[in-house]
Amino acid sequence: MAPPYIILFLLLSLLSLSLSISHTAFGLSSDTITLPLSPILTKLPYSDPFKLAASASLARAHHLKHHRNSPSVATTAVYPKGYGGYSVDLSFGTPPQTSPFILDTGSSLVWFPCTSRYVCSHCLFPNIDPTKIRTFIPKNSSTAKIVGCRNPKCAYIFGTKVQSRCSKCKPQSQNCSLTCPPYILQYGLGSTAGFLLLDNLNFPQNIVPQFLVGCSILSIRQPSGIAGFGRGKESLPSQMALKRFSYCLVSHRFDDLLQTSDLILQITSNGGTKTKGLSYTPFRQNPFSNNSAFQEYYYVILRKLIVGGDSVQIPFKFLQPASDGSGGTIVDSGSTFTFMERPVYNLVAQHFLKHMKNYSRALHVEAQTGLSPCFNLSGVKTVNFPEFTFQFKGGAKMTLPIQNYFSLVGDAEVVCLTVISDGGLGPVQTSGPAIILGNYQQQNFYIEYDLENGRFGFGPRNCRTKA
Ligand SMILES: *[C@@H]1O[C@H](CO)[C@@H](O)[C@H](O)[C@H]1NC(C)=O
Ligand SMILES: *[C@@H]1O[C@H](CO)[C@@H](O)[C@H](O)[C@H]1NC(C)=O
Ligand SMILES: *[C@@H]1O[C@H](CO)[C@@H](O)[C@H](O)[C@H]1NC(C)=O
Ligand SMILES: *[C@@H]1O[C@H](CO)[C@@H](O)[C@H](O)[C@H]1NC(C)=O
Ligand SMILES: *[C@@H]1O[C@H](CO)[C@@H](O)[C@H](O)[C@H]1NC(C)=O
Repeated sequence: MAPPYIILFLLLSLLSLSLSISHTAFGLSSDTITLPLSPILTKLPYSDPFKLAASASLARAHHLKHHRNSPSVATTAVYPKGYGGYSVDLSFGTPPQTSPFILDTGSSLVWFPCTSRYVCSHCLFPNIDPTKIRTFIPKNSSTAKIVGCRNPKCAYIFGTKVQSRCSKCKPQSQNCSLTCPPYILQYGLGSTAGFLLLDNLNFPQNIVPQFLVGCSILSIRQPSGIAGFGRGKESLPSQMALKRFSYCLVSHRFDDLLQTSDLILQITSNGGTKTKGLSYTPFRQNPFSNNSAFQEYYYVILRKLIVGGDSVQIPFKFLQPASDGSGGTIVDSGSTFTFMERPVYNLVAQHFLKHMKNYSRALHVEAQTGLSPCFNLSGVKTVNFPEFTFQFKGGAKMTLPIQNYFSLVGDAEVVCLTVISDGGLGPVQTSGPAIILGNYQQQNFYIEYDLENGRFGFGPRNCRTKA
């Protein structure tokens, strides 16, 4: 990872940002903010988008599981989601400049490609021209300012390390001019780096002043910005003190149709009111991680997985997060396919094989895509797919539509289970969440993160029709 750092510091030394400093304080004036959410276009240079989505989901899972707070860099859990993510437009600055962001509940910083010198390396996807990536120009915003070392928001990212990183700022000097150190976010195959800004985040009826946002000047394999919706202090929900947020993910089948659905940010409390048609399960605050990066994840307590009426006998250690940070289930909008640790996955797959033993396996498709099991349904008139249900603490049951766990792959006669695990031969993952509920399994559900009441709500909904 050395080259990006070197380039970063070269760029930092070349850049001279002249930012005006001004203070504007606007209040939030409406109760909810509704934004269109769209699946990301999928025209990628891969003959098999499923293979890409499967390996991307796996790399994402590895990263989420090995996530650590590092002393010198701020790390977050992101993965290039050229395929299988959902994007939202946000406007920063005065006058507003709009950029697309990937909605990511598995990380917390909000950052955008930034400055006229932005460099995106290895971003040559056929539908993305790196020279046409929309970048935020801080100079053009009268409200943008660089975060100082003494600003408490600098510590959102660097935590207690900020003292040593900003050691040249004497405690007595009231107006230390040092800026907050640059951030470097690392992820599966790439990274992004830049410096922290404060600027207005604009919505049609509201302005959030002095929102902490990352101004990335260099990214690798990550062509668009990311909106971190995790539990960290720097996330969008934390900075806006949202009471709830919710989304409905339109099916990935419509990825190419520019179909959008709503992302709803709820600013004011509506007490303990439940949303009609939703089932709820409490979020679990993980007790093990005072200082752990796992704290930014949304843990829920999975009680059972049910396949075709059979309860899968999952060992308790996978369902319950342990004090060392292993086990448990998180909800992640930034993962495509749901990940299960190998022993859990094997049990689930066995149940599917039992219920679908009348159909022939398509082993070569499994080898090609990395998905398993796959079945060849050629010549089969009616298929009986077993039901697949996630049952959470409190009894809330998420029974998935068939399209959320079996997908047609390639020629329209093979279907594969869209749940992934780590390779049978690779090292066994023992840290981090055992199950990561990805966005493929959340399609056509209305999903609510009720932060005020500490609970996760969901209910089936056709996300193509507005509620
Ligand atoms: C920034 O301002 C310059 C000069 O006024 C203008 O040419 C440029 O288009 C602006 N860029 C953006 C992204 O607004
Ligand atoms: C802040 O810095 C300016 C110049 O940079 C100086 O004139 C002023 O006295 C300083 N104020 C305090 C409170 O240290
Ligand atoms: C968390 O805090 C408790 C008590 O404050 C301490 O005993 C424990 O070692 C801490 N755990 C970690 C992972 O820092
Ligand atoms: C498999 O096929 C047999 C014979 O057609 C049928 O009786 C049985 O119910 C089928 N099993 C499943 C799991 O669909
Ligand atoms: C599925 O089975 C049919 C008939 O057995 C065969 O002709 C076809 O090649 C198979 N397709 C795949 C993708 O395996």
